[in-house]
Amino acid sequence: SERKAALKREIRELLKSQNAAIVAHYYTDGDLQELADETGGCVSDSLEMARFGAHHEAETLVVCGVKFMGETAKILSPEKTILMPTLEATCSLDIGCPIEEFSAFCDQHPERTVVVYANTSAAVKARADWVVTSSIAVDVCAHLQSEGKSILWAPDQHLGRYIQQKSGADMLLWNGSCIVHEEFKAEALKDLKRVYEDAAVLVHPESPLAVTELADVVGSTSQLLRAVRERPEQTFIVATDAGIFYKMQQQAPDKVLIAAPTAGTGATCRSCAHCPWMAMNGLESLRNVLLNKDQEILVDPELGRKAMIPLQRMLDFRP
Ligand code: 13P
Ligand code: SF4
Repeated sequence: SERKAALKREIRELLKSQNAAIVAHYYTDGDLQELADETGGCVSDSLEMARFGAHHEAETLVVCGVKFMGETAKILSPEKTILMPTLEATCSLDIGCPIEEFSAFCDQHPERTVVVYANTSAAVKARADWVVTSSIAVDVCAHLQSEGKSILWAPDQHLGRYIQQKSGADMLLWNGSCIVHEEFKAEALKDLKRVYEDAAVLVHPESPLAVTELADVVGSTSQLLRAVRERPEQTFIVATDAGIFYKMQQQAPDKVLIAAPTAGTGATCRSCAHCPWMAMNGLESLRNVLLNKDQEILVDPELGRKAMIPLQRMLDFRP
């Protein structure tokens, strides 16, 4: 629409005049992803978002995603201004892992190496030995296992169980979950697989183990995207946030994409699985924050220095 086009023009100019770049997650609105692509920003999974921000020359990064992604950018680049369209966009995993309880849990198990998912607060990261994202979680834990280490894992229990199964690592699990991915249903997915016999099933590992067990590919958002581009199948059943369909369809226009069921048999829809916090990012709020700079991510510098250590370990890790 005309209004959208005007907003996009305004945002492009603001980005230029403020030497700012957009860093967007695959689950955000297609308009934001398009704008990020067009303006030399980044659209990716959470690991690549962190890598991009850490090296980019822009003075300001506008992180379109959820709070932990903004905090990670700030920790890795404390000298940069980190804005977000809204500071209200959080994550159920972050909420479900408050620092006081988490720290007490770690204190009870001092012999374990503390590995936390990137979907956590700066304070939780600062208490950890390792930070990982879904794209390297299995590799890091397998590496720790090979060194004879036992692991304390937080906060996603489903991802934790999946890593445990893949790596054989000794892991003590926190009981958090993602409100979006925990809704995927194994029985209904089995029914759908019977309807689309030739389809490949792609699953994000925040889904329950009964669902990942039905997958042809389990991986981070960018790993699932690559599977759609590179695998020979024509049809894909996708168990992750509906935001991903924008890039999947763009990168593989002739493939058929079907949303995995979040409810009983027959009830599939493209917008069922969508993170309410990712959905808070829009063109209007992006324009507003570039104008007003009122949604700035700040991390206590001392805490940031502590959290930087396990984050840097993640960025330096090569499987
Ligand atoms: P990715 O690292 O796979 O992008 O996952 C981040 C996330 O929040 C998934 O829900
Ligand atoms: Fe958190 Fe789930 Fe939303 Fe990702 S999709 S940001 S894990 S609540």
